[in-house]
Amino acid sequence: MSTQNFPTLKNDRLLRALRFEPVDTTPVWMMRQAGRYLPEYKATRSQAGDFLSLCKNTELATEVTLQPLRRFELDAAILFSDILTIPDALGLGLYFETGEGPRFQKTIRTEADIASLPKLNMADLSYVTDAVTSIRHALGGQVPLFGFSGSPWTLATYMIEGGGSREYRHAKQMMYACPELLHALLAKITDAVTEYLDAQIVAGADLVQIFDSWGGALGHRQFADFSHAYNRQIIANLKAKHPTVPVVMFTKGGGLWLDVQADSAADALGLDWTMPLDKARAILGTSKAIQGNLDPATLYGSPESIKKAVHAMLNDVYASGIHTGYVANFGHGITQWANPDRAKAFVDAVHEYQI
Ligand code: CP3
Repeated sequence: MSTQNFPTLKNDRLLRALRFEPVDTTPVWMMRQAGRYLPEYKATRSQAGDFLSLCKNTELATEVTLQPLRRFELDAAILFSDILTIPDALGLGLYFETGEGPRFQKTIRTEADIASLPKLNMADLSYVTDAVTSIRHALGGQVPLFGFSGSPWTLATYMIEGGGSREYRHAKQMMYACPELLHALLAKITDAVTEYLDAQIVAGADLVQIFDSWGGALGHRQFADFSHAYNRQIIANLKAKHPTVPVVMFTKGGGLWLDVQADSAADALGLDWTMPLDKARAILGTSKAIQGNLDPATLYGSPESIKKAVHAMLNDVYASGIHTGYVANFGHGITQWANPDRAKAFVDAVHEYQI
């Protein structure tokens, strides 16, 4: 499919907010908006066979990306894929154990393991760039399309642990016992992430988000050295090639480090629900747009309580008198137990609010 002649964008509310331009209402999307809380997603996934086959099937990955947009008045789409496609392409063998989340056949724990990691071959991830191009055409210019990647630190935790983790025992052991090894691994992942996001932009992504889902597990000095420094480098490299393509940097648990995070070329910082947005705006001013940060568990409440929570969040972020520079979202992904009608209540409450 051609990466030329993409349809003209009709709804640029989110891009305008990221540039601090006036908006008619607050743009909104939901992290993990395509997923198991939608019955139509589960039907398409079973048609594909399993989650990875769904990611690798261009037509079905396009279909599930569009599903939440048919239900809700969202202001962005996000590529249907996963952050663990990079370690998989580096030969670690990603698989999903039912009920246990992602796992890898191989782990990366020694100097030899790191030395043996190949350079990323984008041909192994052509299913991702094909999906980006297909989705961008299928959107018909309805809303902008996010590409995404995990951050080097977050990807490193999966590669070192061999899957998800609560304690990050092996990753932190490498950090404190052999920091130079972890730096060598992070440098390799940084190259891969840069190339991966660049390829998604070339394939048609209007903007990109970096997920540092486990940045908040670090101490503040370790966050600066082992996570932020690499994110900053990726963003600088992307901006050198694509100066007008926005980058959103989401660090779960990173609210205390907004001053550190502000030192990058990111256009926006994604925040989780621990950070009051009036405080975030006071720290960031107009240096960075803000994205987030409702607790996704808010959706377990009534439509009235969702509306109240959304309006309180918007009052906070706009208290400074700056009525743009903000994208509504959750502070982490929507959960599989969310009721789609409550997700609609969230999206509608954002748009209803007079800014
Ligand atoms: O936002 C979207 O709608 C786009 C799709 C998307 C998925 N994963 C689909 C997915 C995105 C942006 C991701 C990112 C991702 N994946 C992150 C970063 C964001 C975050 O939540 O912190 C992380 C840490 C992962 C790793 C991952 N993938 C885990 C831990 C799991 C299993 C647990 C879970 O929540 O399901 C996955 C699988 C996964 N990725 C699913 C989906 C829809 C569920 C798989 C299924 O259908 O069974």
